[in-house]
Amino acid sequence: MTKKSERKVKIIGTGMYVPDKVLTNADLEKMVDTTDEWIVTRTGIRERRIAAKDQATSDLALLASRRALKSARLEPQDIDVIIVATHTPDHYFPATACLLQAGLKAGLIPAFDLVGGCTGFLYALIVAEGLILGGVVRRALVVGAEMLTRITNWEDRNTCVLFGDGAGAVVLEESKDESGMLSHFWQADGNLGPLLILPAGGSKVPACHDTVAKRQHTLHMKGNEVFKHAVKRMAEAGEEVLKRAGVKKDAVDWLIPHQANMRIIEATGERLGIPREKVYVNIHRFGNVSVACIPMALDELNQAGNLKKGNIVLLDAFGAGFTWAAVALRW
Ligand code: UT7
Repeated sequence: MTKKSERKVKIIGTGMYVPDKVLTNADLEKMVDTTDEWIVTRTGIRERRIAAKDQATSDLALLASRRALKSARLEPQDIDVIIVATHTPDHYFPATACLLQAGLKAGLIPAFDLVGGCTGFLYALIVAEGLILGGVVRRALVVGAEMLTRITNWEDRNTCVLFGDGAGAVVLEESKDESGMLSHFWQADGNLGPLLILPAGGSKVPACHDTVAKRQHTLHMKGNEVFKHAVKRMAEAGEEVLKRAGVKKDAVDWLIPHQANMRIIEATGERLGIPREKVYVNIHRFGNVSVACIPMALDELNQAGNLKKGNIVLLDAFGAGFTWAAVALRW
């Protein structure tokens, strides 16, 4: 919904971490029946990062969070809640957010994970905004962290070329000026869940030898179906959130879309009437890092000094569930 009051929540620090190891399209050509040409023209991806064997999602989240706290000039003890959006937690339980809380030595603050598809980071931002405006917490650490290469079927060329590992984090608190989140829009349609799913390992299909043999613990996606819904819903969400914020399209300085496919990114920009040079793209370097895409992009823009005070930024995502959301903010 649109915020009723003038009070706003703002991002006061950003951070990201990606593993060092790069997996190029040329590397993938040796693994499955694919070509660099197909991957680049159909997705825009040229390379992606792969976590080291001894890394888990909480390790990526920890490094990104430390950088976000440093950028906010805060210590872990200054945070009141941790929310981690992820589909690839270290374990089913405990929550990766709890492991992160321990890793940061943040004290006994509440910490929980949020599963919201590739929209999860935006869902987490909206939840954190509500907690801050509701007076429940003063500051929140919101993280999108993912190790999709651990749930990838490396024999399925339809999916294994798409994903990468990484984490992005932001620190939020109530704004004292004009900057901050202006409006949000979030929706879901559970009827379409089976189109993008990790079928086994949950209560419906518990893990057994058969599920492992059938690779049901990896991501399954009807790519072209997901594609159509993503383009439609991201355009709708972007339109709606700008309307709610009372911001005209030509006032947008940056569109940061979820980085699932260059063709989805371009179509979203075109449908929203936002010129290409204002659309932030890093999919060629990182692939689809799910919930980490948007906070990583925010941090890249921020660290490069490309987010100026007063800039209007539109965050827009779509993912498993299906879920979709957009957030408009003034930097
Ligand atoms: O992040 C959450 C949301 N996720 C998304 O938004 C992903 C949305 N989907 C997509 O990005 C695209 O649908 C894909 C990149 C996954 C696939 O692109 P597409 O243009 O939709 O291709 P397709 O699945 O319709 O397949 C076209 C052809 C097929 O061959 P035939 O049946 O026409 O002979 C595939 O077998 O491309 C083939 N193909 C490949 N060829 C070479 C599929 N993957 C590959 C590959 N290399 N890696």
